[in-house]
Amino acid sequence: MATLSRIGLAGLAVMGQNLALNIAEKGFPISVYNRSSSKVDETVARAKQEGNLPLYGFHDPESFILSIQKPRVIIMLVKAGSPVDDTIKTLSVYLEQGDCIIDGGNEWYENTERREKAAAELGLLYLGMGVSGGEEGARNGPSLMPGGSFEAYKHIEDILLKVAAQIEDSGPCVTYIGKGGSGNFVKMVHNGIEYGDMQLISEAYDVLKSVGKLSNEELHQVFSEWNKGELLSFLVEITADIFSIKDDKAEGHLVDKVLDKTGMKGTGKWTVQQAAELSIAAPTIASSLDSRFLSGLKEERVLAAKLFDEVIITDDQVFVDKKQLIDDVRQALYASKICSYAQGMNLIRSKSEEKNWGLKLGELARIWKGGCIIRAIFLDRIKKAYDRNSDLANLLVDPEFASEIVERQAAWRRVVCLAINAGISTPGMATSLAYFDTYRRESLPANLVQAQRDYFGAHTYERTDMPGSFHTEWFKLAKQANM
Ligand code: 6PG
Repeated sequence: MATLSRIGLAGLAVMGQNLALNIAEKGFPISVYNRSSSKVDETVARAKQEGNLPLYGFHDPESFILSIQKPRVIIMLVKAGSPVDDTIKTLSVYLEQGDCIIDGGNEWYENTERREKAAAELGLLYLGMGVSGGEEGARNGPSLMPGGSFEAYKHIEDILLKVAAQIEDSGPCVTYIGKGGSGNFVKMVHNGIEYGDMQLISEAYDVLKSVGKLSNEELHQVFSEWNKGELLSFLVEITADIFSIKDDKAEGHLVDKVLDKTGMKGTGKWTVQQAAELSIAAPTIASSLDSRFLSGLKEERVLAAKLFDEVIITDDQVFVDKKQLIDDVRQALYASKICSYAQGMNLIRSKSEEKNWGLKLGELARIWKGGCIIRAIFLDRIKKAYDRNSDLANLLVDPEFASEIVERQAAWRRVVCLAINAGISTPGMATSLAYFDTYRRESLPANLVQAQRDYFGAHTYERTDMPGSFHTEWFKLAKQANM
């Protein structure tokens, strides 16, 4: 190759390969490198096949780096953790002052902050960039969440604006997120929300299947229909698709043969850990994580199922009007989703305040409208809610969301009660409802918990009718009172 590439990409597993092809297709000559050579050859062959894209493969780090124009920008798409450190070590030998490294993996945000500092000591710029959208998104337009050095962002802004998913009326699904590890943090919460969405959808499926006795064909119809309205989203769309797939190895539908054990890579767990760290209630997201843990106990559940009589659902115990059930579940799903996003957004805001990142929640909702796994028409409503009031304490109190919740709460309660009576666990919907019911009440039984704490631990309490901190000798008074 005669001229230098505009950018480089190291790490050619599924995401890296597809992102590199996307960048090349947008007209930016790109050099690619991978530790194992076969991936380099594979990517180069794909670039040829997919239209002679300006993509150039390298088998050693030095010629890879030297093939990129200065200041060099290199995106790494390798496994989070030590592989990222190893790759930086390999590449930085050949990098020069002013060059930029971008980590596009699902990395823990503090690792990015540590690496940004270390890179700065070498005169290098560093970005931690969340990339969402899976294989298809990476190839045709992901949602990008770059955080860290603003100078580094500026070096590749033109590329990111073209490579990201493009949404009519709201632009490319990328924005400079903020300083430090904010890009990774926002991507982590995106994944926590993704867990919540998937859990809620699976509960809707369970209620419709187990209580409503809907067949896979009917479920396909219902989810396809839902995907035309307020629930229109990537996850609802793929759910509808899944119900239409027949098993290619045996009779029936494939979904019924998939083992009911959910795997995970860790970002949802980090989200819940961060929520606890920041004292932000995130019960919907936490329940989705717990559900994954419990799903993993397949062998124990098989034994427990034998021990406990299955709750028998007969028509006289649970009357189900199918049409009404479908409509109720749709509303319960939507209302629960509002609670889940409220939790995720509040978590981001809290971290932003702690770290002084100045994150703009409406802007995050905008870049999640396309490309990413949680993309949905619903995100436009969230963006508008924050446009109306950027200091919104909770999505639940946005006037539009508040009225949507009010309209749906009867259906939501019916679904949760029905599921409870039928012995079908709906932790996501039930905890979302509990979140709403807790948040909307002026008075909670927390007065009793405070009294208990003061009783056994002299932890003191505040009063409703006068300022100050109080302690009472509850035990002594109780003895006197009960004498
Ligand atoms: C995305 C996805 C992606 C990945 C998840 C899966 O935004 O493109 O979130 O990052 O599919 O990390 O996470 P689990 O394996 O933990 O379910």
